[in-house]
Amino acid sequence: MAMEIVPVRPDFVARVGGVDLVSATHGEVFARLRRALDDHCVLIFSGQPMNDRQQLAFSRWWGPMEPTKGVNPASGTPFARQSNLDVETGEIIAPDDRRMAYQRGNYRWHADSTFKRVPSLCSILTAREVPPEGGNTEFASTRAAHEALPDDLAAVIEDLIVEHDFSVSRGRVGFQFTPEEAAHYPPAWHPLVQTNPVTGRKSLLIGAHASRIVGWPVDRGEALLEDLLERATPTAAIYSHRWVKGDVVIWDNRSVLHRATAYDSARYRRLMQRTTISSPDSVNSDSYARIHALREAATAKQSGGVTR
Ligand SMILES: [Fe+2]
Repeated sequence: MAMEIVPVRPDFVARVGGVDLVSATHGEVFARLRRALDDHCVLIFSGQPMNDRQQLAFSRWWGPMEPTKGVNPASGTPFARQSNLDVETGEIIAPDDRRMAYQRGNYRWHADSTFKRVPSLCSILTAREVPPEGGNTEFASTRAAHEALPDDLAAVIEDLIVEHDFSVSRGRVGFQFTPEEAAHYPPAWHPLVQTNPVTGRKSLLIGAHASRIVGWPVDRGEALLEDLLERATPTAAIYSHRWVKGDVVIWDNRSVLHRATAYDSARYRRLMQRTTISSPDSVNSDSYARIHALREAATAKQSGGVTR
């Protein structure tokens, strides 16, 4: 079976066929898949049903998996569960339940785990149960957005640092963490402009968790982040994925945004299992070294100039 990678759009998204992700070996296919992610940013596989064990085995190819913490019902496992089904009983959860309110944050454009100090390389989402209508996942390319920026704006943002804060993003949709939950998620700093180390192509690390530009007045930073988000997500730039049971979709969290769309969660069952691959090497880059130095200086200033 020869693997085939067919672009869906010229700027991002490809369908991958001619490979069985469960029976293929890492040595046979992984180098091409990894390069395809760098080139196309979203990879779609159809007819590849996976159970949890198979998804874990496939996910390990891509790098270390993030453990899921805090509020997600799969907390304590490597899975982030996107579902309206009770993890214990399998029954549909009432729409006004706190667990469903938490998931409504996913309706805003975001990249996964940008609020963590070590960012994510990619997410792998497998469709286990899908509603007959609604529940698409939409994607937009921040690489294409960066490439379309006017030169003067690209120059302004080139070296900016963006703070991502999970408490702020969930707060914007009316969900409040308890102090214990919030303690899991201190704000994280990242280069606003990301550079793919393989392709050299730049992208923007923006979306719902992006709360401010470090060193800028809050209003000005919010206006910039909103402007960049608008540039990245016009209707014509969106790929909307209609899920079919057995689909596997992998996306690059450094270069695409995604969002969930609504479905009738009181009526239809939906179960998606996500694994999230961490990118520990990325924080060893020069741009992160600058961030570490700035954070240390900020911490020292806060503690009255006394460094420990
Ligand atoms: Fe997400």
